[in-house]
Amino acid sequence: MRTLQVLADLQSAVRSARCAGSSIGLVPTMGYLHQGHLTLVERARAECDLVVMSIFVNPTQFGPQEDFVLYPRDLERDRYLAAEGGVDVLFVPDVDTMYLGGSGEQQVWVEPGSLADHLCGASRPNHFRGVATVVAKLFNMVQPDRAYFGQKDAQQAVIIGRMARDLSFPIEVRVIATVRESDGLALSSRNVYLRAGERQQAVALSTALERGRKAIEHGERDPRKVEQQVLGHLSESAPEADIDYVTVADLNSAKPLERIRAGNVLVALAVFFDRTRLIDNIIVRVDSAALQTDEKAAAQR
Ligand code: PAF
Repeated sequence: MRTLQVLADLQSAVRSARCAGSSIGLVPTMGYLHQGHLTLVERARAECDLVVMSIFVNPTQFGPQEDFVLYPRDLERDRYLAAEGGVDVLFVPDVDTMYLGGSGEQQVWVEPGSLADHLCGASRPNHFRGVATVVAKLFNMVQPDRAYFGQKDAQQAVIIGRMARDLSFPIEVRVIATVRESDGLALSSRNVYLRAGERQQAVALSTALERGRKAIEHGERDPRKVEQQVLGHLSESAPEADIDYVTVADLNSAKPLERIRAGNVLVALAVFFDRTRLIDNIIVRVDSAALQTDEKAAAQR
């Protein structure tokens, strides 16, 4: 694996690969790698000839009160894991490479529009503008055939998929299932911040989402009632969690649903344990046959 910091070196490595007819996969990360990232690499490895991973803790996606400075970093460990995982080129740019003259100089942004109005976008103003802008820069720098993102960041995945479409990036955006600990907690670089008691309670994120899934599968079609069930479970099982949101949303627009209809439904949540913000979500498939049966049953009640 080659570790490159200079953009010209990255571009020359990518150009040579492309001239040799190789396809290129990009796995953008902020480092402090875990199995979730390595699963993205695995998928990229299976589908592309050259796998590029970027590690860049992007300042523009953190709010002024957020954990940019404290965000966990360990480049040596990451280099080891990336090489073991099958990365060919590890790109570790500094801030001046990603933002000429520093991030304060950025004038032209990729605006995610109403896709950022709800869920995480509602409590993290400008977060998704920073994400979309840095990912657009990485897309231009690497010019991959495919780019890989985790489903855990559901709204991010929606925005990046839409950005690729709306800005005509000739890149396939692949969204890969969330990787979880054996007790259900979604892997996240931020899990390292959790104290023992918080870690125990954090299991409730996934069990609460499963409550939501059950409610939908048992025929609940009012999104607010599903949210109430998820919230109820969270408050009971994770009393130290400060709940940011629980939302039943449309998977394509990240907008809260007024009514659950046939299709893929996103049930998403975010909580704080002290200053550690955790997110998780599930996708529930509602098929039209189930919907008709539920409606019939409701009419007979
Ligand atoms: O998901 C992340 O790690 C980041 O938001 C990303 C996509 C690398 C952009 O900084």
